[in-house]
Amino acid sequence: MTASTLLLDDITLTYPDGEGRLTALDAVSLSVDAGTVTACVGPSGSGKSSLLAVAATLVTPDSGRVEVAGTDTGALGPAEKAALRRDSIGIVFQQPNLLPSLTAAEQLQVMAHLAGRGPREARGRALELLAAVGLATEAHRRPHQLSGGQRQRVNIARALMNDPAVLLVDEPTSALDHERGAAILDLLLTLTRDRGTATVLVTHDHAHLERMDAVVTMADGRLSAARAVAG
Ligand SMILES: Nc1ncnc2c1ncn2[C@@H]1O[C@H](COP(=O)(O)OP(=O)(O)OP(=O)(O)O)[C@@H](O)[C@H]1O
Ligand SMILES: [Mg+2]
Repeated sequence: MTASTLLLDDITLTYPDGEGRLTALDAVSLSVDAGTVTACVGPSGSGKSSLLAVAATLVTPDSGRVEVAGTDTGALGPAEKAALRRDSIGIVFQQPNLLPSLTAAEQLQVMAHLAGRGPREARGRALELLAAVGLATEAHRRPHQLSGGQRQRVNIARALMNDPAVLLVDEPTSALDHERGAAILDLLLTLTRDRGTATVLVTHDHAHLERMDAVVTMADGRLSAARAVAG
């Protein structure tokens, strides 16, 4: 049996809620292999973003195990988790939180700088990734000079800058119209195959689920597999 690139095993997460606690994730298990996309759907408040936050090691669960690229994250301290996130996890949030003063290429180069890579190598990789997301001619533009869909592409390219094993994407199409949303999903599928990431995609867009490798549904903090990875 080959190890999954992302493994969540029996995760329970609670938040303080008045006198008691709210269970956001209830004994959730999920494994995602390299080069595959698992879509996660479910109603608002069901725990989808909480699931991504735990997978990203941004939130520590009450119990359960999170493994990223073979590393059991339970044993890691805060600095080690930060290094794991920087080197192995790409995160795409719903709102592309780009820095207003930087060009598209510079948004990506910052990530390489954080990882201690040289500026020349960083520039080359940034331009290569911008080309991969269809923005070869927009590299010099700042966020206000880009459309919403283009900004989300920069956001995705930035998440891939350090060649992550795991890519976590939260509702990337919610601010986009149907056609542009479909193009972003296409892009995520292509990038996942080409770069071999283990991708989790939270989405409300049920139109393209049949193209995903697996679909899981969250309801009240519980996860059920609607369709497993084929093969
Ligand atoms: N930091 C927090 N403190 C307390 N409760 C929280 C916190 N974050 C989320 N919750 C609660 O946990 C539950 C799951 O929230 P979560 O954000 O994971 O849902 P979601 O499925 O992503 O919803 P949406 O589709 O609206 O984004 C909700 O009941 C929410 O109110
Ligand atoms: Mg959410």
